[in-house]
Amino acid sequence: VNGKLWGGRFSKQSAAWIDEFGASIGFDQEMAHEDLEGSIAHAQMLEKTGIISADDATKIISGLQEIQEDLQNNKLEFKASLEDIHMNIETILTSKIGPVAGKLHTARSRNDQVATDLHLYLKNRIPEVISAIQSLQVILVKKAADNIETIIPGYTHLQHAQPISYAHYLLAYYEMLKRDIDRFMFNVKHTDINPLGAAALAGTTFPIDRFYTTNILGFNDTYNNSLDAVSDRDFVLEFLSDASILMVHLSRFCEEIILWCSYEFGYLELDDSYSTGSSIMPQKKNPDMAELIRGKSGRVFGHLQSLLTTMKGLPLAYNKDMQEDKEGVFDTVKTIIPSIKVFSGMVETLKINKTKMLHATQQDYSNATEFADYLANKGIPFRQAHGIVGQLVFEGIQTGKTLQEIPLSKLQQISPLIDEDIFNKLTSKEAVARRNSYGGTGFEQVKFQVDLAKKELNL
Ligand code: ARG
Repeated sequence: VNGKLWGGRFSKQSAAWIDEFGASIGFDQEMAHEDLEGSIAHAQMLEKTGIISADDATKIISGLQEIQEDLQNNKLEFKASLEDIHMNIETILTSKIGPVAGKLHTARSRNDQVATDLHLYLKNRIPEVISAIQSLQVILVKKAADNIETIIPGYTHLQHAQPISYAHYLLAYYEMLKRDIDRFMFNVKHTDINPLGAAALAGTTFPIDRFYTTNILGFNDTYNNSLDAVSDRDFVLEFLSDASILMVHLSRFCEEIILWCSYEFGYLELDDSYSTGSSIMPQKKNPDMAELIRGKSGRVFGHLQSLLTTMKGLPLAYNKDMQEDKEGVFDTVKTIIPSIKVFSGMVETLKINKTKMLHATQQDYSNATEFADYLANKGIPFRQAHGIVGQLVFEGIQTGKTLQEIPLSKLQQISPLIDEDIFNKLTSKEAVARRNSYGGTGFEQVKFQVDLAKKELNL
């Protein structure tokens, strides 16, 4: 006996520093609430099935409820020598109600207990993530509604490609976030399953009722296979993967904010409340928050990679390696929710320099496709039209003229099909307005998509 809850077959104590190494209490206390909830449900089930007496159940449950209160009042003290949240709570329970506390662990193992806690933990947090994303969507769609006719350069390869509506740009992120929500919703399906009662790995000889705990814990489903129940961390991997993809989206947007706030672009200006200054350069206004969100994507990706690597070589069923699953998840939750919130405020207060953005589309050749389309509309095969306009761009670059600055007489030498009306077609406003193919950047299309998004968000 070595004084541990599992110490019966041991004749020696481990050193405190070794206990410390093996302990998870430093971080799994994050799930104290879920652990208590799971234990209360388990005790209720033990009573209902007659595995423990009503009297014992009452003692256990009121003891656990007292611990819930202590938890809320920050009165619990945890010890590394007790390894994890499960054994800390069981020990506290014993100190409150005596040896009857030992009946709580009937027909249960820490393996199904920790899995239950983690399922409950994520089940409780995913809706918070989803609702933060939804609030961000509302901000994007409102901003889009105000900017349907705001024109910005559209880029490919970070080179001016074709002018687009700023609303169209914002709605692209709205769509990405919609898929993020879909993914988190799907993640709920695999999180909302009850592993409790799988015991160590094989189930139990006690006449437990797994569906009863499924019911009280509010789970939607019950694991069919006890081995799978204790060794499955797919739901965590999914969460980390969904969180990573979400962070990719925020990070790309942040990258554009950072670029577009630079002197060279000057399309955007961050609100002072989302910027920082320099300790040496008095003129500086830095997009720290955008950079930090871009930077934090790295740690979230890291957590995904870390758990994939932890899990990939594990034989069934539980292995202590799996204790490494938790810190990354907790950190991910604590990273993505504030990231979404800071990002939301930053975008909501972002100032747009419409003149500068429009200007950037008027001194370039991003209307070259318009010209080629114009010729193609007159019956010239598009490939040939492309060649003609390419030649004009070449000459324009030599002479320092944009396409719209080339005189009509010069244009008509190239093709008599070109008319005065070409100049209207070459304005960026027309270029954007006329792109009304489904999902295109044409004002009518964008207006349609804004309305659709508003309907989706009940705005
Ligand atoms: N602290 C452990 C974890 O986080 C709990 C489960 C321990 N089970 C065991 N058989 N050692 O994974």
